Amino acid sequence: MDRVTELIFYVNGRQVIEKNADPETMLLPYLRKNLRFTGTKYGCGGGGCGACTVMISQYDPIAKKIRHHPANACLTPICSLYGAAITTVEGIGSTKTRIHPVQERIAKCHGTQCGFCTPGMVMSIYTLLRNHPEPTLDQLTDALGGNLCRCTGYRPIIDVCKTFCKTSGCCQVKENGTCCLDQEINGLPELEEGNKTSSKLFSEEKFLPLDPTQELIFPPELMIMAEKRPPKTRVFHGDRMTWISPVTLKELLETKFKYPQAPIVMGNTSVGPEMKFKGVFHPVIISPGRIEELNVVNHACSGLTLGAGLSLAQVKDVLADVVQKLPEENTQIYHALLKHLRTLAGSQIRNMASLGGHIVSRHLDSDLNPLLAVGNCTLNLLSEEGKRQIPLNEKFLSKDPSADLKPQEILISVNIPYSRKWEFVSAFRQAQRQQNALAIVNSGMRVFFGKGDGIIRELSILYGGVGPTIICAKNSCQKLTGRPWSEETLDAACRLILDEVSLPGSAPGGKVEFKRTLIISFLFKFYLEVSQILRRMDPGHYPSLAKKYESALEDLHSRNHWSTLQYQNVDPKQLPGDPIGRPIMHLSGIKHATGEAIYCDDMPAVDRELFLTFVTSSRAHAKIVSIDLSEALSLPGVVDIVTADHLQDVNSFSTETFLATDEVFCVGQLVCAVIADSETQSRRAAKQVKIVYQDVEPLILTIEDAIRHKSFFKTERKLEYGNVDKAFKVVDQILEGEIHMGGQEHFYMETQSMLVVPKGEDQEIDIYVSTQSPKYIQDVVASVLKVPANKVMCHVRRVGGAFGGKVVKTSTMAAITAFAASKHGRAVRCVLERGEDILITGGRHPYFAKYKVGFMNDGRILALDMEHYNNGGSSLDESLWVIEMGLLKMDNAYKFANLRCRGWACRTNLPSNTALRGFGFPQAGLITESCIVEVAAKCGLSPEKVRMINMYKEIDQTPYKQEINAKNLSQCWKECMAKSSYSMRRTAVEKFNAENYWKKKGLAMVPLKFPVGVGSVAFSQAAALVHIYLDGSALVTHGGIEMGQGVHTKMIQVVSRELRMPMSNVHLRGTSTETVPNTNISGGSVVADLNGLAVKDACQTLLKRLEPIISKNPQGTWKDWAQTAFDESISLSAIGYFRGYESHMNWEKGEGHPFEYFVYGAACSEVEIDCLTGDHKNIRTDIVMDVGYSINPALDIGQVEGAFIQGMGLYTIEELKYSPQGVLHTRGPNQYKIPAICDIPTELHISFLPPSEKSNTLYSSKGLGESGVFLGCSVFFAIRDAVSAARQERGLSGPLKLSSPLTPEKIRMACEDKFTKMIPRDEPGSYVPWNVHI
Ligand SMILES: Cc1cc2nc3c(=O)[nH]c(=O)nc-3n(C[C@H](O)[C@H](O)[C@H](O)COP(=O)(O)OP(=O)(O)OC[C@H]3O[C@@H](n4cnc5c(N)ncnc54)[C@H](O)[C@@H]3O)c2cc1C
Ligand code: FES
Ligand code: FES
Repeated sequence: MDRVTELIFYVNGRQVIEKNADPETMLLPYLRKNLRFTGTKYGCGGGGCGACTVMISQYDPIAKKIRHHPANACLTPICSLYGAAITTVEGIGSTKTRIHPVQERIAKCHGTQCGFCTPGMVMSIYTLLRNHPEPTLDQLTDALGGNLCRCTGYRPIIDVCKTFCKTSGCCQVKENGTCCLDQEINGLPELEEGNKTSSKLFSEEKFLPLDPTQELIFPPELMIMAEKRPPKTRVFHGDRMTWISPVTLKELLETKFKYPQAPIVMGNTSVGPEMKFKGVFHPVIISPGRIEELNVVNHACSGLTLGAGLSLAQVKDVLADVVQKLPEENTQIYHALLKHLRTLAGSQIRNMASLGGHIVSRHLDSDLNPLLAVGNCTLNLLSEEGKRQIPLNEKFLSKDPSADLKPQEILISVNIPYSRKWEFVSAFRQAQRQQNALAIVNSGMRVFFGKGDGIIRELSILYGGVGPTIICAKNSCQKLTGRPWSEETLDAACRLILDEVSLPGSAPGGKVEFKRTLIISFLFKFYLEVSQILRRMDPGHYPSLAKKYESALEDLHSRNHWSTLQYQNVDPKQLPGDPIGRPIMHLSGIKHATGEAIYCDDMPAVDRELFLTFVTSSRAHAKIVSIDLSEALSLPGVVDIVTADHLQDVNSFSTETFLATDEVFCVGQLVCAVIADSETQSRRAAKQVKIVYQDVEPLILTIEDAIRHKSFFKTERKLEYGNVDKAFKVVDQILEGEIHMGGQEHFYMETQSMLVVPKGEDQEIDIYVSTQSPKYIQDVVASVLKVPANKVMCHVRRVGGAFGGKVVKTSTMAAITAFAASKHGRAVRCVLERGEDILITGGRHPYFAKYKVGFMNDGRILALDMEHYNNGGSSLDESLWVIEMGLLKMDNAYKFANLRCRGWACRTNLPSNTALRGFGFPQAGLITESCIVEVAAKCGLSPEKVRMINMYKEIDQTPYKQEINAKNLSQCWKECMAKSSYSMRRTAVEKFNAENYWKKKGLAMVPLKFPVGVGSVAFSQAAALVHIYLDGSALVTHGGIEMGQGVHTKMIQVVSRELRMPMSNVHLRGTSTETVPNTNISGGSVVADLNGLAVKDACQTLLKRLEPIISKNPQGTWKDWAQTAFDESISLSAIGYFRGYESHMNWEKGEGHPFEYFVYGAACSEVEIDCLTGDHKNIRTDIVMDVGYSINPALDIGQVEGAFIQGMGLYTIEELKYSPQGVLHTRGPNQYKIPAICDIPTELHISFLPPSEKSNTLYSSKGLGESGVFLGCSVFFAIRDAVSAARQERGLSGPLKLSSPLTPEKIRMACEDKFTKMIPRDEPGSYVPWNVHI
């Protein structure tokens, strides 16, 4: 065989020739490390986040067409790229040449915060525009379905999309037929009031036009290469693996004959993750090149034949075309396939994954296979021995050897028959999230009546997600054949199928009762769907379904998006050059969008750099019997393995132990660290460390376990006000209850990353790290190295999201990495993979609360007695502080005249939990709001009424006796009521609910009082340094960390105002312990406030010094003044300092003044739920916030909405799952779902209250980083409202207990009906569940 062994492809218009292409190398590390295109980011490595999106272009010499498609570089083997042109974010534009319109607009529309997801977003939009220069909004949001962003809340990214749509700025006709530009819609008032307020954050007129002629052309050399005949088989040998790309069918068959065990890699979206995450290894891989037979699309008289090599995106296009052309009765199965292809994964995966790969993988949750099987599809196989056709049926799907491909066989194509008259096919799925989430249960169902008599002639039903493989309800279908299509048959079908498709209580994936319910709920939907069509076809014969029940049929999807924003304009008298109060773009925005912004792991390798991988405990509570390092140490490239023995007396700092000594206390605890020459070597060696454990009792995982074992960190914290016991004696009613709230993963897009560089002199060491607290890292590293802090310098340019998760855990990892670097005198890099990060670093504390509420019949709450418990995990970290903040903030917006709240941080055998945006408030607030809702139910009042009755009014006192003026709280509440047209919509919701049985709407409004401050003067001090250079330019440094919130932008705005110089004259390089020492943690919503006051102080010092010079030459420039100052020996550098807010808290007395001010707000959300599946859609959210004088409305709105969406995730979809042994199941975006673009409310309206009072904060502004998270619970309570409407209609009385997150599972199971009653239930204790509720 004539072979090619040199890999040739193009990246950003440049040819790449790889002589030693290693089949194990993916495009992502190749781009980042080999080619130094670091714009493409690592977010998960498994195709689930989109941070690594690139465009792949390939030329088809037969069709003479170039195909551009988006791809996840993390799953693309470089060997698959022969003849392809790759475009990365650097290839489409840069600040050095010309930025691309997509890059410009995403920055200028404020679509970037930390910027880590931005290159991926840019490339997804860019690729779509290459194929569709005038896309619809639907196409654009669809293109972004595979891209996650943890910061922005997606609204501004949708704004970017709208600027590229044909009907720019408009929602393209809303669902009710009105255009979004109609401001009167839903009673929303006109937004612009004179010139006092603004509703725009950017100006479209100034955008660069999109000009397709300016794009990079497909390299002509690659076209010539592709045209060249005959093409040759390509073979690449790596250290451990061989890659063979045959280019003709004959060669493919020969190769498969020779290597029958080798997988056929097409999209690598199944083989890739298996190799990466499950340790599967293939010595040989066969990856067909461009083989015509695998890409056929044939329309025959019996159906369609689709080549196995077509991508799922191509299949979608073909089917979309076919359903347009053929009569509906022939396209039943195509419609069903299309329905699932719209939500299957993201656009990148759909473009990579092949039809053949999808079918042959036979994943238990495959969306397409159940449909293909019910549709009687057949598979065309070929091998050296000849052709064969097999049915794609339940036997094939259950991997029965008698129905399987033979090892030498290739799937060439799939026949998908046309449906017949009186034949109906439907597709169903329910996932944790509507898009880009594997189904919890899915199903394909087909019935054939033969004629119009409604007698079942054929019935076929398959389910995915309910067993180890896809399951067919074959016997049930057989028994139902011959029966009429009627409710009695449906009833019998449900019972038969529940019996046949049985699911044990301990089934993997958990959610067993939910899955059982879905099995029959889908069946019911199918029954209704078919009945409706039958009725349409023969109205005389089939009775019509009551309108009320038709609601079961529609799917919940938000296709359009509409948002309005309202903020205060600056005073017209403000100088035009003064940027304070204006919506200035994030100063790194353009660099985020071009990939030029440098994050920690983007830094080039240092000479002889090493890589460190942690080995973590696989047991939750065990003695370490032995650690065998010998095999790992013997592997090539391994330099050392650091254990607790090496650290000896420096193995801890404060409350945290670095490496386990003789006992482990959670799965994921750091046991040792392998240091090797390369990342691959160190990761491989880490897998070879052998640790023998002996389990130790007790194993404490849940909060209830901890309460039973009295396993608490320190003693209780208590806050008491009034006389609770006395009040309970006078109230009309008392209710008692409990509530659980799950934790939350930070899911910052940039995983924990650090590079430690010993300077080789005087024990100096530099640490480049993604952290919120450089000073803390400095202290910890100095302690572990036993050197003074002045030898350890910590530098942070920017952080790709942190949310509280980059302080304590980061310092532990930095300590060990620095120890290794110092020991070997070599730079050491440590970057966690997503799975490691989620496992090791913990997250938001799960909460459990018990409450007793005493209230009057009119809704006044007179007594509240509460116990808060958080699950702190195995070490203290900040758990006690979280409990304290929870107690101090639990009153939220309410005056409880008599209150007692006690809190405990529980010590358990879970990874230690830590700070996460909101720090206890989102949990404590939800608990209180749940009490309010329960009181309302008891009093027969609306929750909003009870909220209003109990709300703080004007001047009052908090439970810790701090004075509060709640005027703005009432204002926010009133405005939110008015702007959301609450009363009108409440009536509309009730009407909807009365008219619809299976869909319900819910509406809820929550108030917010978020105290801001850190509880101590010292913790709120801040410092800054401002230099003016002789050319008149200024450099500012401060103690705050840029982690997406735009603090550096705000600081430059401050300098610009104070020194009256343009922002372009001011620069900020990053944060370092070398320039501003002894800084506080960046967190708690106060970073811009505190550091801004320090920057302002520095500027004022400089101005004071320079005032005489300036007044002597008022027309001069900064260059003139700086030169004169220099000539007169006046210092052009100044330190700024802010002492901190006077704050204190005395826990013994339960009183103090821990906070500086309060952020007020209110949010109203409306949702619609599907009572049969538990699905929900966020219809609309209105938020009103009191932000004081906003320093930068664009950044502040970004903080509010980003936090709101993060909160919505917390309260509705984000769910951590632990096994009964304490092992975390949810370790990546495929298992743990954060909100994606499909989750945001169809309508989002945000407005800021006009600033009312001057305060001593920075320009009377308020910090907004955290407060918005809590507002996400308006969605929780709206869902609760909808569930409660469903229950009422079904005659279910009694209290409704709903815990957070309110997932599809909980929604479905709470909407009890005949189906939930029909399913078998397992006795608790009769089985071992897959997961425990921690
Ligand atoms: C992030 C992510 C999200 C996903 N979401 C969903 C989802 O929502 N719904 C869903 O249904 N699926 C989902 N998937 C699964 C996805 O659909 C499959 O991974 C994909 O279809 C496999 O196709 P592939 O071409 O990449 O297969 P590959 O990984 O290339 O190959 C898979 C297997 O198929 C065999 N094979 C491939 N082609 C042939 C052939 N012609 N003849 C014989 N054997 C062949 C190979 O030997 C191999 O064993 C998701 C996957 C990822 C990574
Ligand atoms: S890094 Fe590739 S999809 Fe997440
Ligand atoms: S800006 Fe999207 S993840 Fe930070």
